[in-house]
Amino acid sequence: MNISIFGLGYVGCVGAACLAKLGHSVVGVDVNENKVRLINEGKPTIIEEGIAELCEEAHHAGRMRATTSAAEAVAATDISFIVVGTPSSKEGHLNLNYIFTVAERIGKALKDKDTFHVVAIRSTVLPGTNDKVGDIIERESGKRRNVDFAVVSNPEFLREGTSVKDYFHPPLTLVGTDNEQAEQMFRELYKDIDAEFVSTDIKVAEIMKYVNNTYHALKIVFGNEVGNICKGLDIDSHKVMEIFCKDRQLNISPYYFKPGFAYGGSCLPKDMKALRTLAHDLYVDVPVIDSIHPSNEKQKDNAVQAIMAKGKRKVGILGLSFKSGTDDLRCSPIVDVVERLLGKGCEIRIYDKNVVVSELTGTNKDFIMAKIPHLQHFVTSDLDEVCRQSDLLVVTNKEKEFEDILDRYPGKVVIDLVRQWNEVDYDGHYEGLSWGDINRNTAAQQKEIEKDFRQTDF
Ligand SMILES: NC(=O)c1ccc[n+]([C@@H]2O[C@H](COP(=O)([O-])OP(=O)(O)OC[C@H]3O[C@@H](n4cnc5c(N)ncnc54)[C@H](O)[C@@H]3O)[C@@H](O)[C@H]2O)c1
Repeated sequence: MNISIFGLGYVGCVGAACLAKLGHSVVGVDVNENKVRLINEGKPTIIEEGIAELCEEAHHAGRMRATTSAAEAVAATDISFIVVGTPSSKEGHLNLNYIFTVAERIGKALKDKDTFHVVAIRSTVLPGTNDKVGDIIERESGKRRNVDFAVVSNPEFLREGTSVKDYFHPPLTLVGTDNEQAEQMFRELYKDIDAEFVSTDIKVAEIMKYVNNTYHALKIVFGNEVGNICKGLDIDSHKVMEIFCKDRQLNISPYYFKPGFAYGGSCLPKDMKALRTLAHDLYVDVPVIDSIHPSNEKQKDNAVQAIMAKGKRKVGILGLSFKSGTDDLRCSPIVDVVERLLGKGCEIRIYDKNVVVSELTGTNKDFIMAKIPHLQHFVTSDLDEVCRQSDLLVVTNKEKEFEDILDRYPGKVVIDLVRQWNEVDYDGHYEGLSWGDINRNTAAQQKEIEKDFRQTDF
């Protein structure tokens, strides 16, 4: 394929040479004439293992050249990558000026091009940038997005030092797109890359790099804090983390990575507290480990706020224990939420098939009686009664029996704390605690929100 790459810096130079190696014909574009000259001499613009050989090979094969002219590059190619820098502004915001300047130039160049063109944002940018780039290109070219051109988001996952190897063996190939033709072109472009091809929503692709890098930073800091505690106890932290990484079920795995409600139960809160106290006794600062509990409390606040914001007084709670399949109420996060809703004057009905108040014993009973002494007045064994008599339903765990409540009880407000449903078509107001709007029934959603604003039934 014929590819243009705007920005011949670190990522652009590696991308250009690697795409040429895959057999594509590449035109690099840069405002820096020295970089353009280097590429035209078959030399890299950066130092990186293997890049010099790739540039020389591409040059000799006649598959890589460079220019300062955006118009010439766009006219000669089907896909244009934007790989210019996205530095931080003084205040810490992202400076997207280079991206928007390139979008303007590509837009102007597209005015004179009759064939379909794909613009791919490879730079690291915040969600919403793709839309903006599309608007700029439409404005400058007079052409229409998804008719004459498409804009895809194709973030880069390479690491400096191993970037050539990373290019050919990335963890995955990610393309955020709203255009079938562009997706097919990218499948073809990357068909020889040894990685799963993942096509997704544009904004999902745009936020991925930030999520990845923040998690990588979190891993480093967590490992260091564990190390510092271990040092205080004269324990070899490398042995600890090596064993930690052997657990592929709970530690190094997708487990627990589902955005949703706060953690609870009798183990996590207790053991977290013990490790923090141990660190403090050792005079070891562990700011990340210390911040886990406040973050968890914040998620309970978020649930209370999401519920109270709807202005409904009759609230049904579907699930009271800390997870499905147990009657363990100790440190169940929804108990704290219920306690606060009661304090705010809500009329609460609770259904949990595993919780029979008269049968609670021991520490489980002591815990709940300290929090909600009149629990028996709120709990019923009749799910239908809770759903019918409540205006707002809070789904707190993934019991199978909650699956069809959206079909059976239309017109309510449903707050889902645990992503009970992956897709929703609800004739009422559905809101997830930690994800964007997934209710396809947008007309009903709109109606309900308007009603919320007009009146509150308190
Ligand atoms: N460096 C990395 O390891 C890495 C990894 C993944 C993603 N990224 C992201 O990729 C993007 C590029 O990073 P980089 O390290 O390659 O940046 P860089 O500063 O090395 O290169 C940017 C290039 O863009 C050129 N440029 C600026 N304005 C231009 C214009 N109007 N037209 C054409 N060229 C123009 C500059 O002259 C420069 O050569 C950034 O968003 C970065 O965050 C970087």
